[in-house]
Amino acid sequence: MTKRIAAADREGLEEAAQKLRQGELVAFPTETVYGLGANAFNAKAVAEIFAAKGRPSDNPLIVHIAQAKQAEEFAEVSERARKLFDRFSPGPLTVILPKKEGIPERVTAGLNSIAVRIPGNAVARELIRLAGVPIAAPSANRSGSPSPTDADSVLQDLDGRIWGVVDDGNCQVGIESTIVDVTGELPVILRPGGVTLEQIQEILPECTLDVGLFKKPIGDFRPKAPGMKYKHYAPRAQVIAFEGNSSAVRREIETYIATHSHQKIGVFAMDGNCYEQSTVLHWGKNAQDMAKHLFHALRQFDELGIDVILCEPPETGGMGTSVRNRLYKAAGFHIVCAEEEQKEKTENE
Ligand code: TXA
Ligand code: MG
Repeated sequence: MTKRIAAADREGLEEAAQKLRQGELVAFPTETVYGLGANAFNAKAVAEIFAAKGRPSDNPLIVHIAQAKQAEEFAEVSERARKLFDRFSPGPLTVILPKKEGIPERVTAGLNSIAVRIPGNAVARELIRLAGVPIAAPSANRSGSPSPTDADSVLQDLDGRIWGVVDDGNCQVGIESTIVDVTGELPVILRPGGVTLEQIQEILPECTLDVGLFKKPIGDFRPKAPGMKYKHYAPRAQVIAFEGNSSAVRREIETYIATHSHQKIGVFAMDGNCYEQSTVLHWGKNAQDMAKHLFHALRQFDELGIDVILCEPPETGGMGTSVRNRLYKAAGFHIVCAEEEQKEKTENE
């Protein structure tokens, strides 16, 4: 059985750090989602991460450190990278850097670059500091399912497969870090997350979103972050993402419910929006709230035995872009664009 350690249990944290250092797997809280940690210098421990998660071996891991200067031990830290760390770390940001020697190939899946992140959660940084080694960690879910935002979700997926989980309650951000690749001529966001494109452009105006981000991965399409090509964040239930203005989306969702009475329907809706004959979970008022609750809600809908989850859209831009990215993946790019009544009329004329 996997051991649960309370974040405030100092001795427990020290033991977890020691276990990590010795090659055991320990899940830990970050401000984004829970990570599944292993000593990044220990190739065997890292291999066990892939086994515990059922993760494809060509999908590299993020190396977590407690302080930016640790990155110089195993990566080339350019001026751009330094600017990013100075502004957004500790915090929900991962930077892809050219790799130096030292970290096993298993971590980077043979790439000549390495992903580095300094988590915003103080318990995570203390655990890394106590372990005394960089910690390789993907999200602590079974490959393909929604990332865990609390210790119960970690145990749901990994109980018995890992030594322990440090429990620090719910994650503040709720979706993963923003990945910025600074190895090329221009910086590119490979995965939008807790830091927005707009925030990054304040210090790196030349930064853009990877063009493949909102495309369905088909054929020989190869996203720059290998993990982005895999099925992701998917609950057992089918997910449908709706787009359009709020009244058009409401009409479309109501029509769906009315015409699918044989299905058990869940709706993930903005606060205050209710639907008949369905189970409604509310995500809050804005994209930040939605990010915080999305993965947990997907798991909750599964526990409730829901067949289809219908999702109201977040606002556009900012965190809306990041949440939308996760939502579209959870939906396998099943997106319904709700037309405004006005527009439909003109089209019919
Ligand atoms: O917020 C987060 O980033 C969480 C917490 C635990 O830190 N971690 C996380 O890890 O989301 P994971 O493994 O679920 O996602 C890491 C993503 C994958 O899509 C992977 O392909 C990409 O980062 N990645 C890792 N190293 C890379 C590299 N050298 N070049 C491009 N993409 C890389
Ligand atoms: Mg993941």
